[in-house]
Amino acid sequence: MNDALLRADEVSKSYDGLEVVRRASLEVGRGEVKVIIGPSGSGKSTLLRCLALLEPIDGGAVFLEGGRVSGLKEKELAAHRSEIGMVFQRFNLFQNMTALANVMCGLVEVRRLKKKEARERALEFLERVGLRDKADSYPEELSGGQQQRVAIARALVMRPKAMLFDEPTSALDVELVREVLDVMEGLARDGMTMVVVSHELRFAHHVASSILMMDDGRVIEEAPPEQFFSAPSHERTKRFLSLVE
Ligand SMILES: Nc1ncnc2c1ncn2[C@@H]1O[C@H](COP(=O)(O)OP(=O)(O)O)[C@@H](O)[C@H]1O
Ligand SMILES: [Mg+2]
Repeated sequence: MNDALLRADEVSKSYDGLEVVRRASLEVGRGEVKVIIGPSGSGKSTLLRCLALLEPIDGGAVFLEGGRVSGLKEKELAAHRSEIGMVFQRFNLFQNMTALANVMCGLVEVRRLKKKEARERALEFLERVGLRDKADSYPEELSGGQQQRVAIARALVMRPKAMLFDEPTSALDVELVREVLDVMEGLARDGMTMVVVSHELRFAHHVASSILMMDDGRVIEEAPPEQFFSAPSHERTKRFLSLVE
């Protein structure tokens, strides 16, 4: 289908001759949420980085709103990259900058907004993740959950067409997971297009349009949550689910 917002078409990626993503295909329609699960080392993060245009791919193609965006020259690539928001497991905030400065910096450096306007917009997005009162705090003064919410605000403030999340809660203490998932559920409800690598299965069940299982670089199955959890078609998926649950 060509009306997907974001699409990977048989994407392959190797490191040092070892193929870690193998002809993986995935498409996300506008407002859809796709959740990817799978064992460690199965290529989930690599696939996400390929979708975010952070890695050159070795085979296949990535499309954004129907246009091919993989294999472009760096300048065009950079423009498309800023249309896709990415949130990492380990937050990746600038430690020497306040929450507000972290959220503002892309607006000033990439979007070339005036400081005042950038600041207003950044505060609006900090508000949206419930952290306006932490605008002047440095990352080390914030909990992991708060840092991750700042990272989400920093991605959102750029008004991306899609948001990609790579195990956004797996570095968090259990009692901080919920506040991050709540923000993500809110985004999904507001119609954000999302691809989420996560083993929070209740979240996946609740929010996903469909769930994909990766194993050994391949997408081995994809199904809507009900079907995925009640009747997975692969033995590998059944085994994996029994371990995660
Ligand atoms: N930058 C890299 N250089 C070399 N190998 C990598 C790199 N990134 C990932 N890999 C390898 O690719 C495989 C898949 O990794 P990854 O995509 O991180 O899997 P997952 O996110 O499912 O745990 C692993 O074997 C990993 O060691
Ligand atoms: Mg990973």
